Amino acid sequence: MMTLCDMAVDVLTTADGRDKTAKSRDYAAQWFAAREAGAPLEIGTATPPLRPSRPDAPELLDPRDVPKRKPGSPQGRIALLHAVAHIELNAVDLHWDIIPRFTHVRMPMGFYDDWVKAADEESKHFNLMCDCVEEMGSFYGALPAHAGMWRAAEDTVDDFMGRLAVVPMVLEARGLDVTPGMIEIFRKADATSAVAALETIYAEEVGHVAYGSKWFHFLCGRHEEDPKDAFHTLVRRYFKGALKPPFNEEKRAEAGLPPDFYWPLTETG
Ligand SMILES: [Fe+2]
Ligand SMILES: [Fe+2]
Repeated sequence: MMTLCDMAVDVLTTADGRDKTAKSRDYAAQWFAAREAGAPLEIGTATPPLRPSRPDAPELLDPRDVPKRKPGSPQGRIALLHAVAHIELNAVDLHWDIIPRFTHVRMPMGFYDDWVKAADEESKHFNLMCDCVEEMGSFYGALPAHAGMWRAAEDTVDDFMGRLAVVPMVLEARGLDVTPGMIEIFRKADATSAVAALETIYAEEVGHVAYGSKWFHFLCGRHEEDPKDAFHTLVRRYFKGALKPPFNEEKRAEAGLPPDFYWPLTETG
């Protein structure tokens, strides 16, 4: 019988995107079926790789070398969805990574439920983006992609609260800020399936930010730390540069991120 950590490492060490997400969805279904049957799978322990396996394509480039996208053209819209697919695949690995990475910290079962659900949703998002890109005559891997995506995971490899602060509460929260504008681009282009896919992503990402905020606050409570001060310290330590407004204040609030968490981080220092 595989433990949850074995499952996580199997997903992380699977290179192909469609294979990775198929395993991810299958393991999530197994996890929740066992939970519902009242016989949860063991969490176990396992050593996740420092970097997850990734397909040979897309070629990963320094962000400065990734060609700029012009969303006014079909090619630009393909590039935009290709970039989102790449972010989603990275997110699948990020959510599975947090499970075996920090098993030395005792956490309630609800913590594992949340990240398995988030990983399952990211897997669905990757597949939705691949389907859209394929519908437009291309495929994931056809264009170069951003090389720096795993950086946040490596920087917080031994800091659990730092991981929660930077990944769900900064990076995924940023997704809430930019997705409405993206949906508009595809709505104007009458790209119905891309609009529907991005709306699914937008709705579900609120939950991922909320999981981050929930467990960050939980750990602050355990250590009697002030959550806002701890968040500011950790983001300044692990996230290079300032946060960029405009912020989606309404969705951030829905996800448990009040303005006094992120506004002070718009200035470096
Ligand atoms: Fe996602
Ligand atoms: Fe997410």
